[in-house]
Amino acid sequence: MTAPAAADVYRPQHDSRLLIAALSEAGPLRGRRVADLCAGSGVIGFAAAKLGAASVTAFELSPAAVSLARAHAAAAAIPVEVRLGCWTRALDCRPFDVVACNPPYVPIASATAPSELPADAGPICSWHGGHDGRRVLDPLCRAAPELLAAGGTLLVVQSEYAGVGQTIRRLAEAGLRARVVAAERIPYGPVLSSQARDWEASGRIGVGCRSERIAVIRADKP
Ligand SMILES: C[S@@+](CC[C@H](N)C(=O)[O-])C[C@H]1O[C@@H](n2cnc3c(N)ncnc32)[C@H](O)[C@@H]1O
Repeated sequence: MTAPAAADVYRPQHDSRLLIAALSEAGPLRGRRVADLCAGSGVIGFAAAKLGAASVTAFELSPAAVSLARAHAAAAAIPVEVRLGCWTRALDCRPFDVVACNPPYVPIASATAPSELPADAGPICSWHGGHDGRRVLDPLCRAAPELLAAGGTLLVVQSEYAGVGQTIRRLAEAGLRARVVAAERIPYGPVLSSQARDWEASGRIGVGCRSERIAVIRADKP
């Protein structure tokens, strides 16, 4: 995984790698139109381009990430169009044959003050998933049928703490066939580590638990 780096841009991690692996196993990308939503440094879109996608359009909210991704695409001559803006802008250029997304999905209690969050966790917008981790996941589940062409595929990665079952249910309610196609147990990063004692105290996790399961959900449009 070749990844450009900058302090104020999400550094590709376990979730990025799991999503790329699922993308490469999802079937041939040759000739297919791919969208990379919440693109960050662009690493998912770059992988899609290298796998032979006919076109790759990436959407990202952070100007720093967009600059980095565009610079890397230009320097490495990777044909990915990187657009600045919310992922919902992908609805303006639908349909896509494949939509891949590594959204912010870490649940953060609404009462948590920014000063209580670790300073070394990277840009907050890259991981803060709202109180239930579903700030992007829920609207994405609703929009997926519109984003996809007939026969198209959504691949989305998330933590168990943001409700994998909820994602599968919401995608099914939207008319897609959804299932987990890849999963991995990984150590807590700085944000979950900072919350772990509160979660232990509330019974949300067992005492001493310091790892989470992340999963890639695949949803196919009939
Ligand atoms: C977990 S990072 C994933 C980055 C990259 N796709 C990867 O896998 O390494 C999530 C990214 O989503 C971006 N983001 C957050 N909310 C967004 C939104 N509403 N629309 C587009 N991008 C968003 C963040 O700036 C961050 O770069």
